[in-house]
Amino acid sequence: MTRGFARGKVILFGEHAVVYGTPAIAAGLERGVTAHAERSDTARLMVGERCLAPDDSLGARAFEAILDALGAPSMRVTIDVEIPLGAGLGGSAAIGVATARAVVAAQGGDPDLESERVLGAADAWERAFHGNPSGIDVRASALGGCIWYTRDGGPRGLRVARELHLAVAIAGPPASTREMVESVAQLKRQRPDTVDKCLAGIDSLVHNARACIEEGHLADLGKLMDLNQMLLAGLFLSTEDIERACRVAREAGALGAKLTGAGGGGCVVALTDGDTAPVLAAWTARGIDGFGARVRAAPGVAVP
Ligand code: PMV
Repeated sequence: MTRGFARGKVILFGEHAVVYGTPAIAAGLERGVTAHAERSDTARLMVGERCLAPDDSLGARAFEAILDALGAPSMRVTIDVEIPLGAGLGGSAAIGVATARAVVAAQGGDPDLESERVLGAADAWERAFHGNPSGIDVRASALGGCIWYTRDGGPRGLRVARELHLAVAIAGPPASTREMVESVAQLKRQRPDTVDKCLAGIDSLVHNARACIEEGHLADLGKLMDLNQMLLAGLFLSTEDIERACRVAREAGALGAKLTGAGGGGCVVALTDGDTAPVLAAWTARGIDGFGARVRAAPGVAVP
């Protein structure tokens, strides 16, 4: 049996706008998912106790897309998950990357040397679920560290002058990325000017955030997170739970806080001045689960 690991991720700036070609900044988490693969007469994908293939038709199609992309025979893959799924932490992309790595290894290949094959297969998996994914989740999950990403240019490394100490809250129940992305597309069809202005605002925040990360201006970076959250709320992607988790984090001393990922539920990320404990304690006191994460430069990714 072969094994493949892939990270969860947080999007620090630029989710949704990245679907329309603007840049976004994401970071891989230390925790993620592990896939175990072995050859089998029937294709089967188990995520914990849940059978995604063949029992779930969408899951079965997505799994088949991975095996097809890799030219792999039938496999049995089991996934152990360390991150909540559907919560904006890139769980689905991480399952795709981990599965592709374990399958490549089961074919006798080296997933590290064949990273383009792995990414291509994980993209095929994501397309089956999300229709029009930007590809940021798959890259952040595969690379780790802090990345700058555009649809056209792919991932680039970012210099991280001061390590980022994040607190991540599981603020509300999961939401569907496909539905949230579609809700923005629908709003854009109805009110193109308003949505385009909002996307342009996010674009400029992302560029400013890059400078703050590269120069270590954490207080300003936090303010930009708050502004990004406002613009996401303006696209109707926030919820009461998300607003509450952001507010509690700021009151506990966070430099800034925002939803991360598709929104409509799921997770909140807060930037701290180095000590995540007060924010995590404030969330715990209000029944909100969370964990700390540290972000550094992406290992082995070129910094332009
Ligand atoms: O919630 P997640 O982890 O699936 O994040 C999706 C990020 C979006 O920008 C909303 C969609 C995308 O494909 O980039």
